[in-house]
Amino acid sequence: MKLFYNIRKLYTPLGVSGRRGAEMGEIEEIDNAAIFVGDDGLILSAGSLIEGVAPAPAYGSGANVRIERIDCRGLVALPGFVDSHTHCVFAGERSKEFAMRAEGKSYQEIAAMGGGIRSSVQDVHEASISSIAVNSKPFIQKALALGTTTMEIKSGYGLSTEGERKLLEAATRLSEETRMEIIKTYLGAHAVPKNVPQFDYVIEVLEKQLPALHSMAEFCDVFMDEGYFTKEETVEICNKAKSLGMKIKLHADELAETGGARTAVELGAYSADHLLKVSEDGIRALAQSERTVATLLPITAMSLRAAYAPARRLIDAGAAVAIATDCNPGSAMSENMQFAFTLAVIGMQMTAAEALTAATLNGAAALDLAKTHGSIERNKLADFVLYDIPRLEYLPYHIAVSDVVAVVKRGEIVVGPI
Ligand code: NIG
Ligand code: FE
Repeated sequence: MKLFYNIRKLYTPLGVSGRRGAEMGEIEEIDNAAIFVGDDGLILSAGSLIEGVAPAPAYGSGANVRIERIDCRGLVALPGFVDSHTHCVFAGERSKEFAMRAEGKSYQEIAAMGGGIRSSVQDVHEASISSIAVNSKPFIQKALALGTTTMEIKSGYGLSTEGERKLLEAATRLSEETRMEIIKTYLGAHAVPKNVPQFDYVIEVLEKQLPALHSMAEFCDVFMDEGYFTKEETVEICNKAKSLGMKIKLHADELAETGGARTAVELGAYSADHLLKVSEDGIRALAQSERTVATLLPITAMSLRAAYAPARRLIDAGAAVAIATDCNPGSAMSENMQFAFTLAVIGMQMTAAEALTAATLNGAAALDLAKTHGSIERNKLADFVLYDIPRLEYLPYHIAVSDVVAVVKRGEIVVGPI
C-alpha cells in the first residue's frame, strides 16, 4: 500500500458517469489531502488528512501491512487527463501544409491539392509497423509527461486492411512499450483513398476491413462530414461495427453541419467529436442523450483558424462536454492536454472546474471508462498528476508551460521524482 500525503490541494470531479450541464462545474476541492493506494493500483481512499484518510481497520491491523509513505511536498493533485480523441499513430509530418494554411489556404483546399489525410496515408503505406511506433512514441511519452494517463488512439491513415492493421499494431506496441494506457479506435472511414470510387471504398470497409480488424479495436469511428462520408454511409458502417461488437464514436459537424451530432446520438455513440458547426438540433440531441459525450477539440479549431465549438451553449443546454487534443499531423499537431485546457477556458469560455471535468471524467465517459477512470476517488485507478501550482485556475492561466512535477499511473510514479 502507498500513502501519498501532504497534497496541499486536491481537485477532482466525482462520479462513475459523465457529468452534464451545471454538474460539470461542481468539483471537489480538498485541502491537505492524501491518497491511499492499494497494491492493485486502485484508490482505497482519498480525502482530507485532517478528516482522516488513514486506512480503515478492514485494510489490516497495521503490524503486517507495509505502507510506503510518499511526501507530495505541498503540490496540487488533479486526476490524470483522459485524452479521448487522438490520431497519434502516423508516419511523417505535414508542416508544409501548416505553412500553406498560414499563407491562406484552407484545410479542404490543401486536401484537394493532394495533401491532407491522403498524404499521411502515403507515408504510412511506405512505413513499417516499427517505424510508425518509433515515430509515434515521443508523442506518447510527452503526453504522459504533460499529465495524460489514458489516451485513445485512432487508426485512419491506412485506408486499406493492411494499412489500418499496421496502425493498430503500432498502437498496441506503444501500449506495451510505454506507461500510457491506450484505447484503440478503428477509423477506416477517415477518407476515401485516391482513385477509388467512394461507393467501392464503403463496400471495402464493410466487407473486408471491419470483418478483418474489428477485434483489434474497441471503438469504430467515421469521419461523417462534407466531402468525406455521408449520414447513410456512416450509419451503415456503424451498424456493421456494432454487429461485430464494437462501440461507436463519430467525427461530427466539423467542416460543415451534416447532422452528425444527432446521428451519433441515434447510433448510441459514446461521443460526437469536433462539433464546430453543430446545429441547435444537434445541441438538443446531445443534451438529451444519456450516453453521447460532446467531445470538443479546441487545438484543432485554433490550428485551422476556425471558430471554436459552442461549449457554453452545449453545457448550458445540459450536455456532457469532454475536451481532447485530436493530436494528428494535419489539423492539430499537439499532444498537450494542458494546452487544450487553456484553450477551453480562453477560447470556449469554460470555467477551470468545467474544463477539469471535461479533460478527466467526461473524457473517460467518452471511452466508456467512467466507472474506473477520470476522478480521484475510492475504487478508481490511482491515476493522478502532481503540479507545482497554487490553485486549479493557475493551470490554464500559465499558458503553454507545464508545471507537472510527477505523474502517477495505477499507483506507480511514472514521471518524477516527486
Ligand atoms: O480530427 N477531421 C478529421 N480528421 C482529423 C484530421 C486528420 C488529418 O488532417 O490528418 C481531425 O481533425
Ligand atoms: Fe480527429
